[in-house]
Amino acid sequence: MSVIRKEPFIRICNLHQSFGDQEILRGVTLDIFHGETLVLLGKSGGGKSVLMKHLPLLLRPTQGHIWIDDVDITTLRERQLGSVRQKVGMMFQNGALFDSFTIFDNIAFPLREDRSLSETEIKRRVDEALCTVKLAGQGSKFPSEISGGMRKRVALARAVVDLPDCIIYDEPHAGLDPVTGADIDELIKDLQRDKGITNIVITHEIRSAFRIADRIVFMLEGKIYWQGTVAELQTTEDPLMRNFIEGNPSIWGDSWRLSFFALQEGLSSFVDLGIMGELGTYKHLLAALELRMDFAHGLRLCTCNST
Ligand SMILES: Nc1ncnc2c1ncn2[C@@H]1O[C@H](COP(=O)(O)OP(=O)(O)OP(=O)(O)O)[C@@H](O)[C@H]1O
Ligand SMILES: [Mg+2]
Repeated sequence: MSVIRKEPFIRICNLHQSFGDQEILRGVTLDIFHGETLVLLGKSGGGKSVLMKHLPLLLRPTQGHIWIDDVDITTLRERQLGSVRQKVGMMFQNGALFDSFTIFDNIAFPLREDRSLSETEIKRRVDEALCTVKLAGQGSKFPSEISGGMRKRVALARAVVDLPDCIIYDEPHAGLDPVTGADIDELIKDLQRDKGITNIVITHEIRSAFRIADRIVFMLEGKIYWQGTVAELQTTEDPLMRNFIEGNPSIWGDSWRLSFFALQEGLSSFVDLGIMGELGTYKHLLAALELRMDFAHGLRLCTCNST
């Protein structure tokens, strides 16, 4: 049984990151508490994955600090990072499975990479991880032989197998039907409850966020724009967040992405973009949607009919 301790396990302080002249993180400050499930929301391309890749120090910040268990990991050298990476497991956005490895070998990979565990111990841990994600007995298959939902589970098993204190799930619901997505949510909450794991979940699925989050954090313009509980999100007066939660649940992810384009580009260019530009992929949605948007500067109602 897990208990959320109101003391930070991870402290991110004024984190900056740039690629070339593109400034992605502009001073992110955030505490993540022991044993909580934190859901990270934000627009596509806004830097959620980049931010989270700093926790196992797969990326080093250009400025700012990260403390994990009171150790400033940004000051550590590469060879000192083994213990940090063992504490923070990551389920990557694309699964990042090796197609030529069996499921068993994919999950065993982090154990074999830099540890001196015996093959017997590796087999015990991999079998346990397979059991945790409800894939017992499937280890001899190859990634090409299993469904998308099962691939997510394998990626999760690989994140779990090294017994981390914290797991980052980068879009665990992407490409899954709602039922399979709900199964993943259940696994995430099981890990929190049964193993006391601190969960950080990046998702565009608001239904899942409401189902699993102890706290929700919203990123905008390279910073944390809003944070609070599910109940606080449901009652917030913030116009941008209200727009976010009042969208149509069945097309939620796309609807709020569209809204962000609108906020950033201005209404007219949004319509132009929607019809002929970058949002062309959402044409079918535009056709079906009556999209309402609260703007921070006042209420404007936008009705999009693409016909
Ligand atoms: N290694 C890299 N080198 C250069 N640019 C990068 C690198 N990684 C990410 N970026 C850029 O940083 C920006 C933020 O990317 P990121 O993957 O963090 O977005 P995201 O918020 O996770 O989006 P999504 O919701 O679509 O996954 C993007 O413009 C991306 O192209
Ligand atoms: Mg991402």
